[in-house]
Amino acid sequence: MNEPILEVNHLKKYFKVGRKAELKAVDDVSFAIRSGETLGLVGESGCGKTTCGRTCIGMYEKTGGSVLYKGKDVHVEKKQHPLALSKDVQMIFQDPYASLNPRMTVGDIIAEGIDVHGLAANSKDRKEQIMELLNLVGLNKEHANRFAHEFSGGQRQRIGIARALAVDPRFILCDEPISALDVSIQAQIVNLLVKLQRERGLTYLFIAHDLSMVKHISHRVGVMYLGALAEIGPSRELYRKPLHPYTQALLSAVPVADPKVEKSREIIVLDGEVPSPINPPEGCRFRDRCKLAMPICSEITPKLKEVAPDHSVACHLYN
Ligand SMILES: Nc1ncnc2c1ncn2[C@@H]1O[C@H](COP(=O)(O)OP(=O)(O)O)[C@@H](O)[C@H]1O
Ligand SMILES: [Mg+2]
Repeated sequence: MNEPILEVNHLKKYFKVGRKAELKAVDDVSFAIRSGETLGLVGESGCGKTTCGRTCIGMYEKTGGSVLYKGKDVHVEKKQHPLALSKDVQMIFQDPYASLNPRMTVGDIIAEGIDVHGLAANSKDRKEQIMELLNLVGLNKEHANRFAHEFSGGQRQRIGIARALAVDPRFILCDEPISALDVSIQAQIVNLLVKLQRERGLTYLFIAHDLSMVKHISHRVGVMYLGALAEIGPSRELYRKPLHPYTQALLSAVPVADPKVEKSREIIVLDGEVPSPINPPEGCRFRDRCKLAMPICSEITPKLKEVAPDHSVACHLYN
């Protein structure tokens, strides 16, 4: 088993809202990602996935806890060696429309990192690198001189991937890179990311709310609810035998390919709404919506606990 490349320990990220209140977007989250692995991070909109991902790579200051990248504190590195960190750690954004500068040519967008890090010996070398990157992501040479708005969503996301790869990073935060794309295009982008990972030994933190797609790309999956991890485990096991009542509910909404299983699939409908992260419930955050809640759930916050090899759940049912 590979060494962890990213180690997240009791990470907290609170936002100040109004004069006094704090919004606990990420509240005591711990996990590790091994080199060459993809960790999928799923959960409903607003549960803190983006904030968690961005705090993990030092884009956001943290409120508490720590993140180690290759053994070094990300937030210290971000201040002391920002260039070195951005050479290693890149990001692919959710919105391929908003994340590409409309006034720059595709070639210049892709070469941003090459320029910042001085990775091209001369303009010929720079051009060659751009061509190679376009080819790598399934675009062609002629695309270099065009502008992002001339491209489809899937092609724009390919441009975003080429831009991230230009500096030959080791770790990529993929924040819902396929959510804005047509379903038919989603698989193409996922396949491209998988291929690139294999060829280049990349590590991904892959954020998604679509559970069916994340299954195909992730080696392990973490499920977030209201700023905290409810469950984390090997992808296949988590999908076959979800432990947390929240994971069970999320998965029950995903259609299954096997028609027999699909026919007997029962959708678990959750009562109520996600509570506010400004005033999360005491004890277990999920308890108000949990059909299996017990008295202890309103008193003690369940800690993430390993209940099977590499499979942890934060739920009093498993104590
Ligand atoms: N810059 C910010 N200032 C204040 N609140 C924020 C900020 N960014 C995110 N939030 C809040 O933090 C919570 C988590 O948001 P986010 O990380 O974007 O969730 P997700 O990516 O899972 O949809 C939400 O309640 C959101 O409104
Ligand atoms: Mg998000």
